[in-house]
Amino acid sequence: MRERGVYILLISVHGLIRGEAPELGRDPDTGGQVLYVLELARALARNEAVAQVDLLTRLVEDPAVSEDYARPEEALGPHARIIRLPFGPRRYIRKERLWDHLDHLVDRYLVFARDLPRLPDLMHSHYGDAGLVAVRLSTLLDIPFLHTAHSLGRCKRERLLMAGGREAALERTFHFERRIGAEEEVLRHASGVIASTRQETAEQYGLYDRFDPRRAVVIPPGTDLARFSPPVSRRPDPAMAHLVDRFLARPRKPLVLCIGRPVPSKNLLGLVEAFGADPALREAANLLVVAGRHEDIRGMDEEGRRTWEDLLLAFDRHDLFGQVAFPKAHQPGDVPAFYRLAALRRGVYVNPSSQEGFGLTLLEAAATGLPVVTTDSGGPRDIIANCRHGLVVPPHDPAALAAGIREALADPARWSAWARNGPRRVRDAYTWEAHVDRYLKLALRLLRRLRKRARRARAGARPDGLATPFLHARAVLVCDIDDTLTGDPAALAELMAWVAARRGDLAFGVASGRKVESALRILRAWGVPVPDVIIGGVGSEIRYGATAAPDEAWAAHIRQDWRRDDLAQALRDVPGLRLQARRKQGPCKLSYVVRPGRLPPLGDVAEGLHRAGLRANLILSRSRHLDVLPARASKGHAVRYLAFKWGIPLDRFIVAGDSGNDRDMLVGDMLGIVVGNHGPELDDLRGRARVYFARQPSAAGVLEGLRHYDQRLLGLRPGRGPADPGP
Ligand code: GLC
Ligand code: MG
Repeated sequence: MRERGVYILLISVHGLIRGEAPELGRDPDTGGQVLYVLELARALARNEAVAQVDLLTRLVEDPAVSEDYARPEEALGPHARIIRLPFGPRRYIRKERLWDHLDHLVDRYLVFARDLPRLPDLMHSHYGDAGLVAVRLSTLLDIPFLHTAHSLGRCKRERLLMAGGREAALERTFHFERRIGAEEEVLRHASGVIASTRQETAEQYGLYDRFDPRRAVVIPPGTDLARFSPPVSRRPDPAMAHLVDRFLARPRKPLVLCIGRPVPSKNLLGLVEAFGADPALREAANLLVVAGRHEDIRGMDEEGRRTWEDLLLAFDRHDLFGQVAFPKAHQPGDVPAFYRLAALRRGVYVNPSSQEGFGLTLLEAAATGLPVVTTDSGGPRDIIANCRHGLVVPPHDPAALAAGIREALADPARWSAWARNGPRRVRDAYTWEAHVDRYLKLALRLLRRLRKRARRARAGARPDGLATPFLHARAVLVCDIDDTLTGDPAALAELMAWVAARRGDLAFGVASGRKVESALRILRAWGVPVPDVIIGGVGSEIRYGATAAPDEAWAAHIRQDWRRDDLAQALRDVPGLRLQARRKQGPCKLSYVVRPGRLPPLGDVAEGLHRAGLRANLILSRSRHLDVLPARASKGHAVRYLAFKWGIPLDRFIVAGDSGNDRDMLVGDMLGIVVGNHGPELDDLRGRARVYFARQPSAAGVLEGLRHYDQRLLGLRPGRGPADPGP
């Protein structure tokens, strides 16, 4: 890590990412996006303003893929590395199946982040899945994030529906509901969206309710154009000339070059038809079509075979033999030579495609000094505007295309100007260096603005906004509120001073039967500062810090099998139960007042629910309150979840309580303190390991317990400040 500069975390979770020989095109998830994030990571790291770039992705252990993807870390050159964290199944799975597992990546990263020298300043997520991870991390760690969609669910679904796909079947394969919901959430939270073209912002992101165009910037991706440069010698590469010229009757004529995969959207056939039907153009130039390897057309995939059959039939129909070259197999290294040959012959590159997202070949032509003619669609339009190396013609109009090519070839002075513009302008606008310059300008401006805002917000309030205290905490104190913290103002003040003296090493939390708002109210009334974490509604909610940022992963985790209405229905006729006030109920909390003596044994109630196929956690406190919660929710579950999520061992949690709903956080590996004024329902915990029964009541009892659990055990530095209770 450089000493100064921004620390950037790129997140790209799907596909197979490695810095050494990336397997681009290996499967649908390992393609353009993978190349983009790798090149972006390296280019950012080359900039002096960047301290470090981490590229976070999934660790995959699968005999079907290379072991490289099971390495937790891979260097991408100085100041850049890939971080791989395992989550979900070990094996490689396609991106549509990752959604359920993303929360685990969040948790893994939180634990990973504990060992970082510092937290990243900025995150940048790629695609909706990584975006969701960024949303969660950003709420928990208060790190802003930028987002790049790469592709969007709404557009893809529309395209597939238009192609005749059935909605239900598409949903089963692609999980569009999940994806689009996630994308909306990401667009709501992202501080900025980075798009590659203007058309992308207008026509694609524009389909999203949460998209705010003011937060979008268009920064074209850099391209690695090192392989493309104008011809240095007047004489063409002999092997290349041979490959092409043997097709041509008069090889010296200008070459009209088109390179594209043999798929319908590239519209190669449209170009051949336009060329074939225009006698003047046929007189003026030769055509060179480079469309994949076609060793044996019959052995190609369906699309490729059909495209080539159509092309060959069109060559024949227009009798283009001697005027069109369509070399067979070519090596990847040949591609730059095709452009150079066309440039030497003072030809043009043509992009005839009906819809082009970006238009990489136009940049390659520009870098070679080969003027272009392109149909008018989003990406290419931007490229011509930036590089000024050719003409734009309307799409779906063969005559206009042919006329455009003729026109481009007609004026030698203009041709030369275009040929000069391309190499210079493409390097100004489309290199990764140019990309990173604009990127960092945006990022630094954003970070400055957010810092200013945070300073202003902090002027009155406590400095720690979100959950960051957890990241550095070596121990956590979690106290119940009513009758554990409250009761003795002087003792409570002393306890809070003890906590304050250990800030940084110690995180402070409360766990209450009250919902979060009510808990915050009573804490304020008792002069307790806002805790780092609030477990509210008997564990049915977890929120962090002054902004009360919700732990969404917890909310999603406990919701499983929770059928609130059915439970309320089933409990309606149980004697001795009366619903508590509306405001005490929550989406995951169903609470009753208990008439003592009338309620049947709790085991019987639970049994009845079980027989009705309902799952719930029933918690009785002081024989007065019954809380019905999701099976996964309780104060104890919440504490264990925090320990796991933040990577803090359970025996570094000191927990204090007084009544039944505290029970399951008092037992286990945690260090429990039962205050002197506890309810009889906790009596049977006496004698248990790691449950200390204080003699003194409430906060004084908590202090007594803290003294009992020697601080050294907690890994805290020896007490600082006047309030240290001492041994
Ligand atoms: C608090 C809550 C109540 C809950 C009780 C026991 O009093 O307001 O809803 O039932 O704690 O957990
Ligand atoms: Mg209590």
